[in-house]
Order: sequence, then C-alpha cells, then structure tokens
Amino acid sequence: MLSQRLKSLTKYINKTDNVIDIGCDHALLDIYIIKNNLVDKMIASDIHENALQAGIKNIKMNRLSNKIDTRLGNGLEVLTNKDNINTILISGMGTSTIISILNNDYLKNINKIIIQSNNDHYLLRKTITKMGYYISDEEYLVDKKKHYINIVFVKGDNSYTNDELLYGPILIHNREYLDYVKNKLSDVYKRLPWSKILLKIKQKKEINKINRYIQMT
Ligand SMILES: C[S@@+](CC[C@H](N)C(=O)[O-])C[C@H]1O[C@@H](n2cnc3c(N)ncnc32)[C@H](O)[C@@H]1O
Repeated sequence: MLSQRLKSLTKYINKTDNVIDIGCDHALLDIYIIKNNLVDKMIASDIHENALQAGIKNIKMNRLSNKIDTRLGNGLEVLTNKDNINTILISGMGTSTIISILNNDYLKNINKIIIQSNNDHYLLRKTITKMGYYISDEEYLVDKKKHYINIVFVKGDNSYTNDELLYGPILIHNREYLDYVKNKLSDVYKRLPWSKILLKIKQKKEINKINRYIQMT
C-alpha cells in the first residue's frame, strides 16, 4: 500500500499534467498515479540502476509498462523536448540535490514542481521562487511519526517576506505546523548552554515570533 506521505503528493496532479517523477526508486507513487487514473501516462526516472530496476520490476508486475516510461539518468537530463513534460514530482531528496536537478535548460518547459524535501525549506523556497515560480500550495504532515512538508511551485510572479520563505507563505498560518516549529525551537533553546547566551537570546526571539504567528491563527 502507498504510504500516506507519498499519497499526499498525488492531490496536486491534474489530468492534463505531463509528469516526470524524478528519483522514482520503487515506482510505487507512479503505479498509484496511473492505477487511479490521475494521468494517462507518465515518466519515472532514477539515477541509480538498481533503484530503477526495482521500479521496472514493480511496473511490470502491475502490467503498466505501456503507461509508465522509465528512464535511467540524472534529473531533467533524461528528457528531450519531444517528451512534452510540464510537471515535476520530486520526493525523498535533500534541497541541494533538488536545486542541482532544477538547474537545467529543460526547466523553461516546466509549469509545476511538486516537492517533498527533507531539509532546508528556506533555501528551497528562496531558490525556486527566484527561478520564476510562486508557491501555490503547502502542506505539513506526519506519517509514521516522521514530519514532512509538501511545497508546490507554479510558474508565475511572486514576492515573499523572509519569514514567508522561512516558514512558508501558507504554512505560516497553519497552527499544527507552527506548534511543531515552536517545539523544535524550544528543544534547541533548552539544550543550548548559558555560555552561548547570544544564540539563546536569538533562539528566544524566534520562539516569541512563532508565538505571535500562533496567536494570529
Ligand atoms: C530516498 S529515495 C526516494 C524515493 C521516492 N521518491 C520516495 O520519496 O519514496 C531517492 C531516490 O532519488 C534518486 N536520485 C538521487 N539523485 C537523483 C538525481 N539527480 N536524478 C535522479 N534520481 C536521483 C536515488 O537514486 C533514489 O532512488
């Protein structure tokens, strides 16, 4: 069965999207997308032969080889203009890998980027919005006691404050997410020794700021 965290990404896909899942690994997400008719066909790719082979095996087992095209290679490099891809799905990768994947000429064809990254969401938002995308959706979710953030970028104008880039223009109004951030910051604050007084003060200021955002929800 598809994990809740992967399933959560499928709500952003429209029937008319031409999708590539970059870093498909086992291809479970792709199989779910096709089986549920979210799109008619798609591309699943991975940079590692073993990962892609695991995906191909699952795709064959589900008799979906005619609907899921598999490609071995690095990020967007597996695509040609003929593929007509306009939507990227990337999950389970760090921000620096994601950014290096997006630094590719093919990006000019991409209208929507759906991301579940596990670190540095500030850098992720800052970089991709600079590339000419706005944030159309964000979600915070907990699956099997792990915390995840989905961010959807769509081509278009944008302008964000530093706090919006840090906490997310949508998540900054989400009480559950703010509570999670506050707990994380409070943990760091407690563990900082008093010898690091300046860092402690900085951390406290950030916690107070989060408290103000919580009050506004
Ligand atoms: C942790 S797995 C995540 C698999 C799946 N997307 C998920 O969220 O469960 C990351 C996958 O991305 C692949 N990967 C890493 N860098 C890549 C790149 N530059 N291009 C394509 N695939 C890449 C890895 O080989 C691996 O299979």
